[in-house]
Amino acid sequence: MYELYVLLSEESLARVAPLLGDDRSFLEELYLALATEPVAEIPEEELELLKENVALWRRGYAVPLRALEEVERLSGEELELEFVAMLSSNELEAEPDASFAFAREFCGYVKGERVLDVASGFGWVPVLLSGRAQVYALDSAYANPIVYGEDRIYIEGTTIELFPGFPEGQAFIRANREKFTRYADFAMLFWERHGARLENITLLQGDASSLSTARTLEGDSPLKLAGAFDSVTIFFGLNHVGRAWRRVLREACGALREGGTIHVAIYREYLARFPLKGAYDWAEQLGIEIVPLEELLKEAEALGLKPKLRRHSGESLYHMVVMEKP
Ligand SMILES: C[S@@+](CC[C@H](N)C(=O)[O-])C[C@H]1O[C@@H](n2cnc3c(N)ncnc32)[C@H](O)[C@@H]1O
Repeated sequence: MYELYVLLSEESLARVAPLLGDDRSFLEELYLALATEPVAEIPEEELELLKENVALWRRGYAVPLRALEEVERLSGEELELEFVAMLSSNELEAEPDASFAFAREFCGYVKGERVLDVASGFGWVPVLLSGRAQVYALDSAYANPIVYGEDRIYIEGTTIELFPGFPEGQAFIRANREKFTRYADFAMLFWERHGARLENITLLQGDASSLSTARTLEGDSPLKLAGAFDSVTIFFGLNHVGRAWRRVLREACGALREGGTIHVAIYREYLARFPLKGAYDWAEQLGIEIVPLEELLKEAEALGLKPKLRRHSGESLYHMVVMEKP
């Protein structure tokens, strides 16, 4: 990873794109300029990779600042570029949806005694709120079996892997596999180990875009969720539910009592043009839908909600929106 990545304004991109060639001598010069260690010989596959990246940069993806400096040097012109956003490689390696610090800040705004956490997975929200509220954790995959494969353990029908790169954790649930048969069992293990009050958490199996499908894990008859909650939390859940995010927001609004609040965290739109977690196609790889802030705010207003942006410490990566139901 390079140190800093920048997103160019349209005008600046128009100036830079023609200078981003894909002839061999240009790519070799660029490769050498970007190398962090002395290079004896340039590996062919690395040059190919750089060529693919340069093609993405030409199309408006974030460019390492170092590459722009080299392009400027090679062109012999002073380009005077304007940046729309700049992110460091440390920021890009962060996983905001898995961050305890971000989740704690997010939960700091949540009030009330009954909270519905949408697309809850084995996230931090139930850990952080179960000490002071009844938390209903909803996920469409809680009843899905845990698959104990030879080289990985995962939740059937999802991309969710358990304890990737953590052999001790894998060994622990393998040894206790009769106790950990469904995704819900794993979520409870995670929450318990992190100090959640399990007696204050109710797991719900159901599709967030159709709350009438929600059941407790014992398969009880449909629950009355309409108007039942002081707060609904959706910590990156709108990014995880795919195209259905509008319906999910509508359902969340229906579950809220009057005067209640929906709390949403969503990735910033421009991140789709940065190599988050090391790859430009991270959103496709993880099945993440980019939800444009403007559209979210418009949708909230159409539902009669009063959305407000909240300031927080991860502003460069995501938006936090609080929506009150009058
Ligand atoms: C990354 S995980 C957990 C995100 C969680 N909010 C957190 O704090 O980490 C996303 C979850 O969304 C769930 N999910 C995806 N689509 C859903 C839907 N339509 N309804 C409910 N849950 C859904 C997945 O099963 C998965 O557990």
